[in-house]
Amino acid sequence: MDASGISPEDWAEAIRLDRAPGLTDVDAVMSTLVSRAARAQRRTIGFPAATDIDWSRTQRLFTRLFNNVGDPSTAPSGEAHTNSLEVEVVRWFADVVGLPQNDRWGYVTSGGTESNIAALRVARDRYPDAVLYLTHASHYSIRKTANLLGLHPKDVVVVRDSWYGEMDYGHFEKLVARYKGRPAIVVATAGTTLWEAVDQTDRIETILDAYGVMRRHVHVDAALSGIPLALDGTLGLGAGSPIDSIAISGHKFLGTPIPCGVVVMRDSVRVSRGEHITYTATVDSTVLGSRCGQAAAVLWAAIAMYGRNGHQARALRARRVAAYAVERIGSTGWPVFRHPDAFTVVLQTPPLSLAAEFGWVLSVDGDYCHIICMPGVSHEVVDEFVADLSRVVARWAVMAECRTRPQNSGWRAVGAGEDRVLSG
Ligand SMILES: Cc1ncc(COP(=O)(O)O)c(C=O)c1O
Repeated sequence: MDASGISPEDWAEAIRLDRAPGLTDVDAVMSTLVSRAARAQRRTIGFPAATDIDWSRTQRLFTRLFNNVGDPSTAPSGEAHTNSLEVEVVRWFADVVGLPQNDRWGYVTSGGTESNIAALRVARDRYPDAVLYLTHASHYSIRKTANLLGLHPKDVVVVRDSWYGEMDYGHFEKLVARYKGRPAIVVATAGTTLWEAVDQTDRIETILDAYGVMRRHVHVDAALSGIPLALDGTLGLGAGSPIDSIAISGHKFLGTPIPCGVVVMRDSVRVSRGEHITYTATVDSTVLGSRCGQAAAVLWAAIAMYGRNGHQARALRARRVAAYAVERIGSTGWPVFRHPDAFTVVLQTPPLSLAAEFGWVLSVDGDYCHIICMPGVSHEVVDEFVADLSRVVARWAVMAECRTRPQNSGWRAVGAGEDRVLSG
């Protein structure tokens, strides 16, 4: 039985499709999906999706097809698309990252992965003989993209990262020195998946300059941190920026009700502008053909409802909660770390019972795990988490103490070769 009150057997029965049409209770299945997700939301704090925006005003969009096929600047025929909103969304993102008015291009994607594919495809077309540099902390979509684009494994170079997830610039320099005769496609990350580390593109630029690698494309995978850092003015493609393209996710900081993303870049880095497709009356410049029109509309709504200031305030509030989480977790003595301005709070992986018994859904990578204080995670949720963490850690402390306690204390000692069950 899960938290929604439906046993796995009942659920399997409810969704079976090999019965006569009409005999399945579609409404009940839909309601259960929503109530399960809503119930789990409070304790699902390991994944970066904001939950503070009320999307009910966009619900009616989902009663129709909206297909933004083709380049957003070339509206497909008919009215079943949201191209005009997509153009506005791309303009807003391009403004926020400081792209010059006369040198910008982008579109609304299906998520961070497609944004990365779109940008790296442009980079590869620009420099087909390039070496692609990524780091150990790069998102797995970067390796997948290299593979999809048919890059030879020998042309994909992995730079070491530091223990806190940021690029090891010393190692990057060694690799650039080795391949300095070749163009470079460098993928920096703004908000790595575990640590939310931000690679410094000015240091990347300095190293490329030092080795005379002028034929280069610097892409920033900013799926998580792109919007907040751009709003702070610390990430951008304005005058003097070494960045050529940037990938941003829509369902992370904005928490859109469907996965989506945005890719923006300098228009001048594009070698090909796409083929004109007669029967759709559009230009095929995007990775996908048919694209979700609702994605552009919900992104537009998020911008219209909050504006720059509203989103900056959301980021600020979330960072305050993250700082509070570090303080509270630290006060229990449990090892904890956070990059400045990050939503992510990294901690030593706690006992498994925190998930199994208390239902906390964390993102775990061996010895480390994280919680992400995205907008929507409250101080109260952090307090609940810390209370449960303290409980499970206290049990460990009792166990540790028990190993050394004399037998007559009422506890049976637990040690090598002895009974491993604690008993009073
Ligand atoms: C740094 C980074 N890049 C790319 C992605 C991929 O985004 P999506 O899952 O939206 O395709 C993620 C998602 O977690 C990410 O954190």
